[in-house]
Amino acid sequence: MATIELAGLRIRPTGAGLAADVDGVDLRALTDGEFGALRRALHDHLVLRFRGYSIDDVEFQHLAGRFGELYASPGYTRSRAVYNPAAPMVTIVSNVVEDGAPIGEHGDGELLWHTDLGFEEVPSALTFLLAREVPATGGNTSFANMYKALDSLAPATRERIARLKSKHQASHSSYGAKRPGFRDIETDDPRELPGPIHPLVRTHPETGRKALYLGRRFGGYVPGLPLAKSEALLDELWAAVDRPEHVWTQQWQVGDLVIWDNRCTMHRRDPFTGQGRRRMHRLMTKGERPV
Ligand code: SIN
Repeated sequence: MATIELAGLRIRPTGAGLAADVDGVDLRALTDGEFGALRRALHDHLVLRFRGYSIDDVEFQHLAGRFGELYASPGYTRSRAVYNPAAPMVTIVSNVVEDGAPIGEHGDGELLWHTDLGFEEVPSALTFLLAREVPATGGNTSFANMYKALDSLAPATRERIARLKSKHQASHSSYGAKRPGFRDIETDDPRELPGPIHPLVRTHPETGRKALYLGRRFGGYVPGLPLAKSEALLDELWAAVDRPEHVWTQQWQVGDLVIWDNRCTMHRRDPFTGQGRRRMHRLMTKGERPV
């Protein structure tokens, strides 16, 4: 796909279902014109990758803060309340253990398809992930274009889900473990599990486009439907998510910064057990109640 020039930025679409590489910009000193071009590129491509950036946490927090109010992951998902006092909104996604304690979240296992903080009433809008250390192999992150997922559904299914909602269960993480605050929950019945109810089709507040919006598959439930019908509908919708033409996979290099929009994408991560250290620094912006 052709490279596009916008306010001095070079934007090269990956040619996959979404995502573009961006260069020609100093992320420490974005002009208003460059910032506007970046927002537009994010609306067009949903995921942006910048290679070879060695910004520190304070610069990283400043950059992300230009895109919206910063919003850290809830305390019960983190291994420490604050990772870097100079940039307190930065959280760490890592398998590294120091002095017997994990330095960040999520370990080295597979993370199943999800959107960030979809298990809250007001999920995050954008996520910024900056690679500080990467393993020899594994730990790739795949993204799915949820506008395309919606568009690929049969017209009758689109019509059926236009007014339906689904539960984004909150008790289990993307690697399947029960979260600390929810350990006393004994049921696996999706009707009983806790979690916010969000629309199956949401309208992006900035682009006005409609996207399919799903929580993690485990514990998903469409209120108002018998369980078997809910399962069948969710299976049909999930089949539209990871079709090869909807997906792009990021193979991390140190210095990669990837920004994605949780309102129109989902993501998952490959496991990397035994492949070495992986340390990603993460920021998120606050979103809005999905409608
Ligand atoms: C996440 O989903 O929060 C992290 C993704 C990754 O580790 O690549």
